[in-house]
Amino acid sequence: MKGGAVPLSQIADKEANVREISRIRNYELYRDGLKKISWVKEHMPLLRSLEEQFRKEQPFAGKRVVICLHLEAKTAYLAKVVQAGGAKVAVVASNPLSTQDDVVAALVHDGIYAFAWHGASATEYNEHIQAALDFHPELVIDDGGDLVSTLHRERKEQVAEIKGGCEETTTGILRLRAMEEEGVLGFPMIAVNDAYSKYLFDNRYGTGQSVWDGIMRTTNLVVAGKTVVVVGYGWCGKGVALRAAALGAKVIVTEVDPIKALEALMDGYSVMPIREAAKLGDFFITVTGDKNCIVGEHFDVMKDGALLANAGHFDVEISIPDLRAKAVSVQTVRKNVEEYTFADGRKVYLLAEGRLVNLAAGDGHPAEVMDMTFALQALALRYVNEEPLSAGVHRLPQALDERVARMRLAASGVEIDELTEEQRAYLASWRSHG
Ligand SMILES: NC(=O)c1ccc[n+]([C@@H]2O[C@H](COP(=O)([O-])OP(=O)(O)OC[C@H]3O[C@@H](n4cnc5c(N)ncnc54)[C@H](O)[C@@H]3O)[C@@H](O)[C@H]2O)c1
Repeated sequence: MKGGAVPLSQIADKEANVREISRIRNYELYRDGLKKISWVKEHMPLLRSLEEQFRKEQPFAGKRVVICLHLEAKTAYLAKVVQAGGAKVAVVASNPLSTQDDVVAALVHDGIYAFAWHGASATEYNEHIQAALDFHPELVIDDGGDLVSTLHRERKEQVAEIKGGCEETTTGILRLRAMEEEGVLGFPMIAVNDAYSKYLFDNRYGTGQSVWDGIMRTTNLVVAGKTVVVVGYGWCGKGVALRAAALGAKVIVTEVDPIKALEALMDGYSVMPIREAAKLGDFFITVTGDKNCIVGEHFDVMKDGALLANAGHFDVEISIPDLRAKAVSVQTVRKNVEEYTFADGRKVYLLAEGRLVNLAAGDGHPAEVMDMTFALQALALRYVNEEPLSAGVHRLPQALDERVARMRLAASGVEIDELTEEQRAYLASWRSHG
């Protein structure tokens, strides 16, 4: 199963042995993976209808597509929808701890190349990305920017082979914009995260629910009555704070942006610098996309028993080097819970090694939310494949954004009003508004 680099000739050959070429942990787990995929499929009506449409229209006929996302069941279903559209698909992990080995086995069973296993080391993680790039993609879906960044740094000769791609998350879009500013981004990338139907739901309600799901199932502790410090009040932070309050926690928000800070204050939360909040929190959740938000001086003043979790894309928001430097002992006390004991006897607990807690210690966002996000991904991939777009970061057209919202409303059995012609004309006029 742990094969070498993929020769292009073999990939191009319909008979290529997906099992031989893939690099996964254990193919025999595929039955469990298939069950997980069919459970989420039941709850993903938007993707189901796109699967049907793509199967008829074959928008990706013969195209090689690499999908670099969190490899759990919802992503697996997206990969199958793209495959149904005629593509040859390979998947690779966007995070070493979120891969579910049974799910990738199920994908291999269904003819999708997979390069990932749970708990891959940094070296293995990079080798998997290289193996996926050996697949010579023409279209890509990335999450966080590792695939596209590696391609531009280490596989420059392949950049011209790519028609375009889509980026899933805030952090990845920041990296793409940095590439665009330096003039190095070699193909069009659709900023799927920046669609309204994405961040208003996935980042806010998806992260809000799944972060608490991940924390609660990992710790089995009560949230009501505790003090929760949410570091960063962007779209994800708003969701995490909202659900913390709904669970009965006292919520403190820390921010660097005055407008977001004010928003948090008017939403009813306490706002203060992290150096103050550090003394008060029972739970700390970083969700900024930034590095070193909680560092040594903050660990120094934390309460005994404080729990630390991250929901931002990379494991750099809580300084793990500082935690290690301060600890006199470190031990795993429960799955996904590491106890750091300091010289004065205080203990703090780091969840999921500081990686995205909702994915590394949970199953990620609810299926209905990812149904919207991945419907956007599927439509964006088709759009970038069919439209002649320039190299750079592009927004998803408003019409596709609205189409997904309409599909979701219809799936929920909700109807809304339509503008009358008179109202449309009124809203578009500037002369008389009386
Ligand atoms: N866990 C998940 O499933 C999930 C889902 C979507 C996005 N993300 C990731 O979460 C992160 C945040 O995404 P978002 O969409 O909320 O971004 P955002 O840009 O809307 O919000 C980030 C916020 O963090 C604040 N911030 C930056 N540095 C800070 C610091 N040192 N202290 C306090 N606040 C600080 C910013 O001012 C901003 O308001 C990104 O890395 C994104 O990729 C995770």
